[in-house]
Amino acid sequence: MFYDDPKKHNLKHNPFKALVSPRPIAWVSSMDTEGVLNLAPFSFFNAVSERPQMIFFAPNGPRPTGGEKDTLVNIEQTGEFVVNLCNYDLRDAMNESSAHVGPEVDEFALAGLTPEPSVNVKVPYIKEAPAALECKFLMNVTLPTNNPKSKNNMVLGEVVGIHIDDAIIDGGMIDMAKYRPLARLGYMDYGTTDNVFEILRPD
Ligand SMILES: Cc1cc2nc3c(=O)[nH]c(=O)nc-3n(C[C@H](O)[C@H](O)[C@H](O)COP(=O)(O)O)c2cc1C
Repeated sequence: MFYDDPKKHNLKHNPFKALVSPRPIAWVSSMDTEGVLNLAPFSFFNAVSERPQMIFFAPNGPRPTGGEKDTLVNIEQTGEFVVNLCNYDLRDAMNESSAHVGPEVDEFALAGLTPEPSVNVKVPYIKEAPAALECKFLMNVTLPTNNPKSKNNMVLGEVVGIHIDDAIIDGGMIDMAKYRPLARLGYMDYGTTDNVFEILRPD
């Protein structure tokens, strides 16, 4: 099959996000200017470079009550955030933290998670997370949109500190079987890494 109009795929649901999968989940902690904590997952997320280490994620659209997502507002005001990585065991807490609640609600508390002080940013990371990337905000790229009510944003951040739970390190490497990162698939589906194999470069 082929289609080029996103409304004319003739399938049960739009397959775009199922095709671009699995996607890692940036579980972003941020803080407003009053110190109120915020936490939300974003699967339009990935690493973009190693030198320096940079990541992007996309807080798109307005909140259901209008206005930008709290995460974007906080990051633009404070210039800092943390990308916590999520594993299989934290899947329900991650999902709870995606609830559309007001900016006054601390989703750490909502999801029963522990804020742990970071080293190079004021925003705490999730103590229970297998790993966390402390980030300084670099820029927001406002992307085109075909929905006048919704904005598309690409937030870029530089990683300025990395926390790793020692329990997922084995022989000096990240043990994927212990890490079990949660991945977003299409629809309401998720996956985790249960099958790891090696392919060596030709040269
Ligand atoms: C697994 C998962 C992935 C998500 N990915 C995105 C995303 O990439 N971009 C986005 O704008 N919202 C995404 N959401 C929805 C946000 O998490 C949700 O809108 C959240 O309430 C935003 O919170 P905030 O207003 O505190 O920033 C995702 C939700 C889940 C559960």
